[in-house]
Amino acid sequence: MKAAVCYEFGGPEVMQIADLPEPEAEAGQVVIEVHASSVNPIDWKIRQGQMASRFGEEFPQRLGFDVSGIVQAVGDGVAELKVGDPVYARSNNLAGKCYAEYVAVDAGVVAPKPDGLSHVEAAAVPLAGLTALIGLRDVGCLQQGQRALIIGASGGVGTYAVQIAKNMGAHVTAVTSARNRELVRSLGAHAIIDYARETVLAEQYDVIYDTVGSQVAAEAQRHLTPNGAYVTLVPQPGVEFFVPGETVRQPGGAYFVLWTPTAADLRVLTGWADEGLLRSVIDSEFSLEDIQEAHAHSETQRARGKIVLRVKA
Ligand SMILES: NC(=O)c1ccc[n+]([C@@H]2O[C@H](COP(=O)([O-])OP(=O)(O)OC[C@H]3O[C@@H](n4cnc5c(N)ncnc54)[C@H](OP(=O)(O)O)[C@@H]3O)[C@@H](O)[C@H]2O)c1
Repeated sequence: MKAAVCYEFGGPEVMQIADLPEPEAEAGQVVIEVHASSVNPIDWKIRQGQMASRFGEEFPQRLGFDVSGIVQAVGDGVAELKVGDPVYARSNNLAGKCYAEYVAVDAGVVAPKPDGLSHVEAAAVPLAGLTALIGLRDVGCLQQGQRALIIGASGGVGTYAVQIAKNMGAHVTAVTSARNRELVRSLGAHAIIDYARETVLAEQYDVIYDTVGSQVAAEAQRHLTPNGAYVTLVPQPGVEFFVPGETVRQPGGAYFVLWTPTAADLRVLTGWADEGLLRSVIDSEFSLEDIQEAHAHSETQRARGKIVLRVKA
């Protein structure tokens, strides 16, 4: 099968298309025929060597955490999925391995693909959508009627975070640039702050969800309601690592989330998508062979929504 492979750390050019053996489904796993994958900034951070302490320095490395496709094989002990099922997942493999024609993943991270989303649209969801869901729900503890500030609302994570916060019944203020104002409004934001022209932190919020890491944590914390939380996707001094189910949340705390994917959480997103309450904003589509261009585009950090890789779709 074709797969994108990195043989060293470096620029986009270190990713090459290789011919590799197809994976087999071990006990507890399924093999998915990949119709689409997507690019997340963590992919190029791993490729550059920025994340070597977490993802290792052994080569070749196989990137790509998102997959939407069709179950091709089922390992022993997997009862809930069968060959032919349309599914999507945030891979639990180290570095992901989804930039390929086939990928084997644990069945416990695989959920039914939303009927109303194409494989391209579904492949955009898992990593970014779960990041938004877990940050707002488990760390932010966002409640109906509360106020959420979403910084970076036009990006891969932000486009889902705006919709999810709205689905949770919050009043959503989105921070974006003028060129993305209408996009963010169309996702359901109630109020918009243009970060180039306006003060971002002017009011009080129950959750400040910062996908950009543009705020100093202590300053953001001063703009929280007493039980609020500052949740950032970029670690910085003064921000605590939050592990769902382990960390005890402190009122007014500042957190970076360490989460693991589950089918149960992905099914929450499937449910919203099936109800028409969650959609994917697709910035651009690339073929697997154009993976170098796809990474270079993601590295501009100007994507509007998600960059998707078409593999079989
Ligand atoms: N910890 C985790 O689990 C986790 C998970 C997912 C992502 N992340 C991290 O979160 C970050 C964001 O990921 P992503 O996929 O959303 O990235 P992305 O799609 O590349 O984000 C690009 C967007 O950010 C916006 N942006 C840039 N600077 C901004 C600013 N100062 N204020 C508001 N918006 C701004 C851009 O809009 P304009 O062009 O209009 O500025 C663009 O639409 C990355 O660093 C990623 O590695 C962490």
